Amino acid sequence: MVVKKNVILTGVKPSGTLHLGNYLGAIAPAIKSANESTDKSYFFIADAHALTTVKNAKELSTAIRHIACVWLACGLDVKKTAFYRQSDIPEIFELATIISNVTPKGLLNRAHAYKTVVQNAVDKNQDPDKDVNVGLFTYPVLQAADIMIVDTSIVPVGQDQKQHIEIAADIAKSFNAVYGNTLVVPKDLIKPDVGTIAGLDGRKMSKSYGNVIPLFCSEQDLLKAIKRIETDSSLPTDPKPKDHLIYVLYKHFTGKDLDPCIGWGDAKQRLFDAVNKVITPMRERYNYLMENYGEVEKILALGAVETRKVARETLNRVRKAVGIS
Ligand code: TRP
Repeated sequence: MVVKKNVILTGVKPSGTLHLGNYLGAIAPAIKSANESTDKSYFFIADAHALTTVKNAKELSTAIRHIACVWLACGLDVKKTAFYRQSDIPEIFELATIISNVTPKGLLNRAHAYKTVVQNAVDKNQDPDKDVNVGLFTYPVLQAADIMIVDTSIVPVGQDQKQHIEIAADIAKSFNAVYGNTLVVPKDLIKPDVGTIAGLDGRKMSKSYGNVIPLFCSEQDLLKAIKRIETDSSLPTDPKPKDHLIYVLYKHFTGKDLDPCIGWGDAKQRLFDAVNKVITPMRERYNYLMENYGEVEKILALGAVETRKVARETLNRVRKAVGIS
C-alpha cells in the first residue's frame, strides 16, 4: 500500500439554514485549517447521509445548494481542497458495500446515533426499531467508506463525530486483518472547542430552539436578530458580563473586547456593525453564487473528477484484495 502524506477529509451534512453558531464553531475553523494546510484536503457534502432523515427531495436539494454556496462564500479555496458531493462519487457506495462484509454488527449496535433513536422509542414504550431504518444503522459504514475512499489519514471533526471515526478505523483494521494491508487506518483530530455559541435567549444557538442569528440574511434582518438578543435591566454605566452573547460574538468577530460600560442598545449596534463588516463580502458572494449556481455546479463537478481519480485507485486495490477485480 502506498502511504501518502497526510490526507485530510471532512464531510458536512446538508441540513437547514446555517447560522452564526455554525459559522464560528464549524465553518470558519474548518476553512482556516484547510486553507493553511500543505497536505491534500477533501471537503464534501454528505448528501446521501442526509437521506436517513430528510425525506423531501426539494428540501434536500435546497439544503445542498445552500451549503455549497455557504462554504464557497466563506472562503473555501478550491485550488487547495477538492470540494464535491458525496453522491457524485459512486465508488464510495461500492466501497461501503464491500466493507460492510468485514463490519461486525455489534460494532454498529454500539453507535451513539442509532442507540439514541432506539432509546427514545424504548422510553416511550414503543418498538425499539420503530424509527430505525437500515440507512441509520449502517450510517457509520458509509461514513467509513467516505473516509477510506481517498486514503484519508486525518479527519478533523467535532467531539460528536469521534465515535464514527473510531468505527471507521476499526473497519479498516478488520479489512486489513483479513485481506492484508489495503486500507489506510484513519485518525480523528478533535477540533479545539470554540465553546458553545449561545443563541438569542442564552441557550445553545440551535435551529430547534428558534434562537438563531442567520448567517446570510439581509442586513435589516441581521440587525433585527441582534436587537432581539436578551439583555437585563442594567444601566449603561454598569459593567456588563464578558460572557454575555453580545460580548462573546463581538470578540469572535473583531478579536477585541467591547467596552463593558456602555448601554445595551449601543452594544448591540456595535456588534451589528462588527458582524456586518465581516459578513457583508461573504453575503454578497453567497447571493452571487446562489443566483449563478451553474458556477458552483462546475466547481463541484471538477471536485468530483479529481476525487474519483483517487477513488478509482482505492477501489481497484480493494476489489483486487477481495477477489472481484
Ligand atoms: N456524520 C457527519 C456529521 O453528521 C458527516 C460526515 C459524513 C462526515 N461523512 C463524513 C464527517 C466523513 C467526517 C468524515 O456531521
